[in-house]
Amino acid sequence: MPVVSAPYEINADDVFVNLESVFGAPLHLKCEGFNLAGSVKLKAALEMVRAAERDNILTPGSVIVESSSGNLGIALSMIAAHRGYGFLCVTDSRCNRASRRLMESFGAEVRVVTQAAGERGLLGARLDMVRELCEEGSKYVWLNQYANPNNWQAHYRTTAPAVAAEFPELDVLFIGAGTGGTLMGCARYFREQPRPVTIVAVDSVGSVTFGGPALPRMIPGLGAGVRPPLLDSSLVDDVVMVPERDTLHTCHAMARRGFLFGGSTGTVVSGALRWLAARRDAAELTTVALAPDQGERYLDSVYDPQWVERHFGSPRSWDNAADRDLPAYQLARDA
Ligand SMILES: Cc1ncc(COP(=O)(O)O)c(C=O)c1O
Repeated sequence: MPVVSAPYEINADDVFVNLESVFGAPLHLKCEGFNLAGSVKLKAALEMVRAAERDNILTPGSVIVESSSGNLGIALSMIAAHRGYGFLCVTDSRCNRASRRLMESFGAEVRVVTQAAGERGLLGARLDMVRELCEEGSKYVWLNQYANPNNWQAHYRTTAPAVAAEFPELDVLFIGAGTGGTLMGCARYFREQPRPVTIVAVDSVGSVTFGGPALPRMIPGLGAGVRPPLLDSSLVDDVVMVPERDTLHTCHAMARRGFLFGGSTGTVVSGALRWLAARRDAAELTTVALAPDQGERYLDSVYDPQWVERHFGSPRSWDNAADRDLPAYQLARDA
């Protein structure tokens, strides 16, 4: 019987879903959202807090301040509450209500940025606010998930070895990119292994991370309006850019088979299916995609028909339009 004394000790880190039954594709999903913070960001949050404590940067009375689209903020709120720190989260209007309420329930203060900082978008505006706060008072400690090496080291130490232990014959790993922490940690780990593993990054159309033009994006989590400093694209073999409509389509397809995942997972799966559909040898490959989140936090957005229609037009029309561009594996969902 597991007995825990801290909320972040509950983390089912060894669950893989075989998506063959949903899409007919040879793809396994490593679920990273089965912990009390509900997403992969718990790992980065814990690693950054522990390092800051070791380095005496975080001390009693400190207030952690961080820019987050929601999930890192929730993880930090939980950790800060348990370890006795204050937490101030700077987020933006895309952060869903459930995430804001969760952070506040843990005692965090949440500030919501609504005006983009020109080309640097809402993320740029969030970072400006964090810098202003840090200039204001020395009690604030900015862990800075965008540049903190402990972010990627969390995945180098835990996520990648867990995938390798379960899939020693791994050929391809699909990883979504936000700050690039998960991507860089896993890429660095597999680059050091004797067996070559193809690292495929998945990002949202409208994100500037891999050099595309900045466009408005509605689904929080993956993608960035400012190029993430952690990213070293020489460690990435391939990049798939996913339109948000395909993210929705894939989330809904999985939900229709009983798997309710979040927007980031929908994006990663959609990108993986697209990449696999272009490969003749897909059936022979051992492939894993990292699923960063669960779906419940997205009931008022990804899974709300009115929200979807408001932002993406009538589901009926985009369903048909999307189907025309979708790879064979995605169409197999209705078989
Ligand atoms: C749900 C979710 N998935 C994925 C990511 C991106 O992961 P990473 O920051 O490690 O690139 C984030 C946040 O950045 C997220 O909140």
